[in-house]
Amino acid sequence: MTENITRIPNTSVVGKDGIKRLPESVYKKAKYPEWLPTWDENEKFPAHEIVHNPDRGLFADPLYPNLFSKSNKELKKIDITPNFGVEVQAGIQLSQLSDAAKDELSLLVAEKGFAVFRHQDLIDKGPKFNKEFGEYFGPLHIHSFSGAPEGHPQFHMVYRPEELGFNPDSVHSIHTDCNWEPSTPSITFLGMLEGPKVGGDTLFIDSQEVYQRFSETFKKSLEGYSALHSNVVASQTNGNGFIRCPPATNSHPLVRIHPITQKKSLYFSYKFTDAIEGLKKDESEVILGFLRQKIISQPDLHVRVRWGEEPGTVVVWDNRRCLHSPLADFENSARHCYRITVLAEHPVENFEELDDEIKELSQKFQERVNISKN
Ligand SMILES: [Fe+2]
Repeated sequence: MTENITRIPNTSVVGKDGIKRLPESVYKKAKYPEWLPTWDENEKFPAHEIVHNPDRGLFADPLYPNLFSKSNKELKKIDITPNFGVEVQAGIQLSQLSDAAKDELSLLVAEKGFAVFRHQDLIDKGPKFNKEFGEYFGPLHIHSFSGAPEGHPQFHMVYRPEELGFNPDSVHSIHTDCNWEPSTPSITFLGMLEGPKVGGDTLFIDSQEVYQRFSETFKKSLEGYSALHSNVVASQTNGNGFIRCPPATNSHPLVRIHPITQKKSLYFSYKFTDAIEGLKKDESEVILGFLRQKIISQPDLHVRVRWGEEPGTVVVWDNRRCLHSPLADFENSARHCYRITVLAEHPVENFEELDDEIKELSQKFQERVNISKN
């Protein structure tokens, strides 16, 4: 699932308008009450279908002249590791980006996996602004049963109440978001509204590099495998009977290609990927178990993003390029974040399987990359 607490708290109360809300006492204490999760029984949506959404990064200038303008003397950014993750500490407000800079942001997370932006006023601009900001990048995902701010079902809310306490077993799960949908997420934003001073970080893992390190022979042996992904069981156990749109089960290639970089990544979640299709259960478990072991056993491919000490932090990542997990190593603090989840193309293993428009855009982008290198 995601960063925790899609589960509806038992303390929530249903109003006469059919909207389930957290108790009044939570609203009084919350730093951002308009962002508290609600569950509207009257709000129903159809199941997600395959979307056609050429990634905005395909339109970007590979030299980043708009996002990282040379004239921006305030810009302060560092690479978190040589190849995975970048942190912008000053000089950029996501809320002020031009369309060309937004395209470069989409390219940035495709190329670097994720980007951390500190001191963002996006956090304070409320659900309507954030929804319109996210929609620039493509259609937004609507979660089957997760809490959403009232009137804005396009957000997935992470809300862990203070009294829940320390329980790491309940939430740790390495995953890619919403992999059960027919078209799965690309660029994704998580904004920290309220959280512990220390802890509650998010772990990112480079699933592209995990794949790239396999021998060519082993890569060949993974060709053609597809896995089944589902949130049907989760909707029954975590939804407390609330369903906003139907849960889904879909099959996706175990290795998927990125339309911008044309690089391949492993594509599965620990909890929401049931099995590799066409294999017996024990055969499937051997392969998935080996892949899980490779994902967790290479610490140089793991990065822990700290939230606590920096106000207004927004983390942006590409769900095709990396895996992530919440880290519930804190207690005596609420944790409250909002997620904007943009849907990408239907996952495919090989470049030839991308639709014609995306293939053409991707080839043109690679030509621009080659020109920019000369
Ligand atoms: Fe997540």
